[in-house]
Amino acid sequence: MHLRKNVRMSSYCILILLMLHFTWLFPSRSLSNDIDQSLQDSLGYAQINRTCMTKTEKPLAKPLVIFITGASSGIGRAAAILLAQQGHRIYAAARRTNKLQELRQYGVTPLTMDISSHSDNVNAVDAIITQEGRIDVLINNAGFGVKGTVEDLPMETARHQFEVNFFGLAHLTKLVLPHMRKNKSGTIINVSSVAGKIFIPLGAWYVATKHALEGWSDCLRIETKDLGIKVVLVEPGYIQTEFFDASFDASQEHAITSEYKVFADAFTAFTMNPKTRKNASSPMGIAKTIAKIIKAKKPKRRYASGKMAQSSILLRRFFGDMPLERIWSYLIKR
Ligand SMILES: NC(=O)c1ccc[n+]([C@@H]2O[C@H](COP(=O)([O-])OP(=O)(O)OC[C@H]3O[C@@H](n4cnc5c(N)ncnc54)[C@H](OP(=O)(O)O)[C@@H]3O)[C@@H](O)[C@H]2O)c1
Repeated sequence: MHLRKNVRMSSYCILILLMLHFTWLFPSRSLSNDIDQSLQDSLGYAQINRTCMTKTEKPLAKPLVIFITGASSGIGRAAAILLAQQGHRIYAAARRTNKLQELRQYGVTPLTMDISSHSDNVNAVDAIITQEGRIDVLINNAGFGVKGTVEDLPMETARHQFEVNFFGLAHLTKLVLPHMRKNKSGTIINVSSVAGKIFIPLGAWYVATKHALEGWSDCLRIETKDLGIKVVLVEPGYIQTEFFDASFDASQEHAITSEYKVFADAFTAFTMNPKTRKNASSPMGIAKTIAKIIKAKKPKRRYASGKMAQSSILLRRFFGDMPLERIWSYLIKR
């Protein structure tokens, strides 16, 4: 009886601590201990630039051939620069050629491609294999998030979300696997999201792609384990990138009922609030996690990293769905 009371008390304490942690989400809170994100970002990149130019790293005995998608901005760009600076041979892919060209100064080779295009994927892998003869690391990072309610969003929008975030990634992986299998070695890093573990209002299709990616990657890991191929998931939290600008705000365009419109407006106001966005982590943190995975002999199966990642996953794991649902309902009132 006494023990049960103690367990309940400790659970409440942990819940309160987690709720306090979540208060960063509230735009009205004091920002005294927050570093200005744009400053933090520019510091992050400046740090890489400085290291690139001044630090003469010992050349790697065998640089790895790394193929990274979604490298024209955000996490992918930061990872491409960091890994190039560490001496690896980087092939960086995305649709925006002009943004990719900027990476040449770091020794990165740009590859223009749309991951939802079958032929683009084939051409990109062929180009790397022709040049290098192998791909040691595939970083599946390209992605975007469509926002909108299930009822409002057209099925073609939902399908495109899956084409980019899931089937495009799966196709690329299938193209790279035979080469890794031949070499009996390779690492596949799938950039999932905290949304692969929790749920977000108006994010049903995005959340579905990331939940799918989690399960798919776990199955793939078992299949390739004895072939020398590692499969690792990265679950970023809230990261300051172009993600929220690039995300197609279908919630506005396709809101068909007044109830959803009010909900969509509340969510957009919340996510676009500069104070909320200032609280996001730097993409450099995720880039460092990726670099750590590549170095590790025995990487973990998944790495939750960045603002809110571990706390929200723990919150759901230990307390179920209710607290998260309550937090979202509080933040996004109709
Ligand atoms: N930011 C966050 O808070 C957050 C949190 C959890 C997970 N993530 C995940 O992290 C990954 C990287 O996102 P980010 O935050 O760095 O956002 P970002 O700055 O918008 O970068 C997304 C990248 O994906 C590329 N991309 C988008 N659609 C593409 C397509 N059809 N074909 C090829 N490339 C495409 C974009 O390049 P182009 O537009 O030039 O093609 C861009 O380089 C995504 O998978 C995202 O789901 C982000």
